[in-house]
Amino acid sequence: MNDLIVVDALTEAQARAELERLAAALLRANEAYHTADAPEISDADYDVLKRRNAEIEARFPDLKRADSPSDQVGARPAEGFAKVTHAVRMLSLGNAFDDEDVADFDRSIRKYLGLSDVAPLAYTAEPKIDGLSLSLRYENGALIQAATRGDGEVGENVTANARTIADIPQQINGAPEVLEVRGEVYMSHADFEALNARQAETGGKPFANPRNAAAGSLRQLDSQITRARPLRFFAYSWGQLSATLAETQMAAIERLQGFGFQTNLLTRRCASPQEMIAHYREIEAQRATLGYDIDGVVYKVDDLSLQGRLGFRSTTPRWAIAHKFPAELAWTRLEAIDIQVGRTGALSPVARLAPVTVGGVVVSNATLHNEDYIAGRDAKGGEIRGGKDVRVGDWVQVYRAGDVIPKVADVDLSKRPDDAAPYIFPTRCPECDSTAIREEGDAVRRCTGGLICPAQAVEKLKHFVSRKAFDIEGLGTKQIEMFHADEVLPINTPADIFTLQERDAQNLARLKNRDGWGDTSASNLFAAIEEKRTIPLARLIFALGIRHVGEVGARDLALHYRDWDAMANALDDARPAALAHRAADEAEAAERIAAADEGRRAKIKEARDAATAACDVSEAAASAWADLTDIDGIGAALGLSLSDAFANTDERAAFDVLRAHLTIVPPEAPATESPVAGKTVVFTGTLEKMTRAEAKARAEALGAKVSGSVSKKTDLLVAGPGAGSKARKAAELGIETLDEDGWLALIGDA
Ligand code: IVH
Repeated sequence: MNDLIVVDALTEAQARAELERLAAALLRANEAYHTADAPEISDADYDVLKRRNAEIEARFPDLKRADSPSDQVGARPAEGFAKVTHAVRMLSLGNAFDDEDVADFDRSIRKYLGLSDVAPLAYTAEPKIDGLSLSLRYENGALIQAATRGDGEVGENVTANARTIADIPQQINGAPEVLEVRGEVYMSHADFEALNARQAETGGKPFANPRNAAAGSLRQLDSQITRARPLRFFAYSWGQLSATLAETQMAAIERLQGFGFQTNLLTRRCASPQEMIAHYREIEAQRATLGYDIDGVVYKVDDLSLQGRLGFRSTTPRWAIAHKFPAELAWTRLEAIDIQVGRTGALSPVARLAPVTVGGVVVSNATLHNEDYIAGRDAKGGEIRGGKDVRVGDWVQVYRAGDVIPKVADVDLSKRPDDAAPYIFPTRCPECDSTAIREEGDAVRRCTGGLICPAQAVEKLKHFVSRKAFDIEGLGTKQIEMFHADEVLPINTPADIFTLQERDAQNLARLKNRDGWGDTSASNLFAAIEEKRTIPLARLIFALGIRHVGEVGARDLALHYRDWDAMANALDDARPAALAHRAADEAEAAERIAAADEGRRAKIKEARDAATAACDVSEAAASAWADLTDIDGIGAALGLSLSDAFANTDERAAFDVLRAHLTIVPPEAPATESPVAGKTVVFTGTLEKMTRAEAKARAEALGAKVSGSVSKKTDLLVAGPGAGSKARKAAELGIETLDEDGWLALIGDA
């Protein structure tokens, strides 16, 4: 790149030759990126080539090629945007699907805040815009940064693009020094139709729906393209602020409007769940004539100080919820039922459908969940679809709810072919032929092959490298499949990823010499792997792919234990209690079955004996188990599954080997300056100024660990009136004890 001639000095012949070379190089780079999913050049180098091409074209407009890379829109996706760490995380919303869920939302808020059923509690209700969220940062009134949501913590810097949107003010008056305005970028129906018509004329690919069009337009590396796209913006929320905006949600939205933002005119204040639902119906009735897509109604607690008290769960606020509109439906033919084996061994039936459009998206697969679902039964033996089973050849009704995988809602029996036979669910794994068993009370049949099942191993690895886990650039689904099948340089366990480069170096058949790989792509991959040797604890826990341990659970575990070894040791300590818990569960299940089946007496006795034997666990085990399952959001099912994974010799060995390759970063202490950060706190007795749930969430937000039982590890007991054995035990152990006011004074909330 160093010996390039300055553009001004190029002759016409040189320019023509170079444009040809650049077109070829950029085409190759795009293909490597998309088709092989293995980029050959860095984003920065790609940008250099693209800029050079544009400069030469600007000087020699007549030489611009018909296949000029400048006209290839979206060839290289968003990797080129700089990353922005949000000062305040951008969260998503929990969902309500019916009126009862809305009533539950109100009840849970009242319970959390300790409000009676009749205490006044107002909410706002507003349309949920179907676009993509954007955070706009203003300092001293000037727009200085715009960022997409990304994974909620880190988004993409799309400032240049946001500046092209007319609804977004560049300068505002009377705002706090720091103001982050959040809202939704969207495209109207009319603009979407016109854009697709233009795309068709110019040979471009049409967008599937306005949301995709808005996302594709905002995430353009070239802001001139964004400028040509008619994007709009509704403001509905905020991030970091140097001064509060107002006392209520409604008043805050009015202030945003005063700053010059578009806010949604269908936003109302509602005094009860009944009024919220009435407004939902009103918005639903207007949905078709609004001129833009909405997919539900968002309810928010109006009083901002109550929003503050309610705070957040791991990824959603407690003070807001999205009431979704019912999903769209379509009928089509079920052509086949395939079984997929997931990373936890679950055999998942998938409906292969004659392609059909549902809500603007072509659907050709749908989930059939499990064998009961196919048979028309739910988990409790009740009927679904009126008890109709699903057969290959049937006409089925499919629906999409939000972004989730389509589901089969109904079967048209009048169109069932005469030769359609009931589906027989396999009892052996289609991938490794191990038996597939269904445990008592489990709806899912699982392959028992464990890591010898190639499907499970490869799915675990795909999960391990996925975006929310290790997120290793250049090591995606395709590459994992390739390496898993590779005999020379195999990846069979996560740890193998981190020895790849070393093994490659010892090998004669070097990766860089293989088909589809080159010097650059191989060394890029090794560099991307090196980069992820340092990994946040929550990501590592999530990456292990343990059943029930999702992103949220992993984050909760990381925040609680803060350290891998501490977590592993706690799980070892808790193991006897975990087993006792399972034994007790099994005894209970056996008894339930016995009530219906006399012949199983022996089985119950066995289960009961096991439960009695297992009950006798040490206090340390019981306390470690309680400590685990007391974490907000972590229940017995997750606890058991985690405990099983860590107690399984093969899996534990794989974890230990992996761990040795990594530097694990503890979660950032939520509040290091807080006087209770890192301390173990126990609440007992009646709290009068807040509910137990609120006290616990508040303490955890300040970096404390809240435990249910007093032990030598307890640092502080907060005892309200009526405290009993825990207070006595704390006194015996000499543990500091405060009353509720003392606690509030300590954390600065008095
Ligand atoms: S409030 C802390 N209000 O829905 C929660 N979100 O499913 C802030 N959305 O990520 C979000 N319309 O992109 C809120 N009126 C509205 C919304 C809205 C659309 C989007 C937003 C959010 C997603 C969650």
